[in-house]
Amino acid sequence: MTAELVAWYRSNGRDLPWRRTTDPYRILVSEIMLQQTQVDRVVPRYLRFLERWPTVEALAATTTADVILEWQGLGYNRRAVNLHRAARAVAEHGWPEDLTELPGVGPYTAAAIANFAFGRDVLPVDVNIRRVQERTQQTFDPACAQALFDLGATICLARIPRCGECPLTRDCPSRGRRYEPQRKQSRFEGSFRQRRSNALRAVAGGRDPGDPEAVESLLADGLVERAGGRVVLPETGVRYG
Ligand code: ADE
Repeated sequence: MTAELVAWYRSNGRDLPWRRTTDPYRILVSEIMLQQTQVDRVVPRYLRFLERWPTVEALAATTTADVILEWQGLGYNRRAVNLHRAARAVAEHGWPEDLTELPGVGPYTAAAIANFAFGRDVLPVDVNIRRVQERTQQTFDPACAQALFDLGATICLARIPRCGECPLTRDCPSRGRRYEPQRKQSRFEGSFRQRRSNALRAVAGGRDPGDPEAVESLLADGLVERAGGRVVLPETGVRYG
């Protein structure tokens, strides 16, 4: 951990709502949302989600359909189903020692919860942090995680890093380099993901989803169910036909 990074974070760190809590449930919700959605889009949805379901017990007690509907617009809807299943597991058995036992929680998210909620000494390495590690060739203390997220998001950018404003520039072997553009997420337009999204929106809106292939895939992920020959959102009578 460098003193420069800490000093930089003190004056440039972002004030994000999940940084004001150590509640593992709130950290879980934030990290699941942040897996594939950008910070600016997550903030209002995170606040709304927690207003609606302030505790893991509250989320566990609701229907899967309500969680899917609340998730609309965030994308990668399977996350909603997994988050709901995780909440039910925690409400029933408590937080597992190995957090990757929870649905939708991989090594990265487990490390984030372990660090931010349980104070364990592990660094959650996402794409931004990995980029900073690789470029600087430094080892960072887990206490630096939030500073590293911000450095990766605002200074150590994927393509054209702002080395002139970077607190780590002095010792950075990659200082001044530029990088080829990389597509982070696959194209949505014309993708199977888009077909799934359209089919799910149809089911949620009580319309015929058509597209049996997309419906099969939604069924496999628990995003929809068959009930009496119809396709509906899980645990409700929201239906088409
Ligand atoms: N990306 C993933 N987790 C984050 C966090 N806690 N703060 C900012 N960006 C993040």
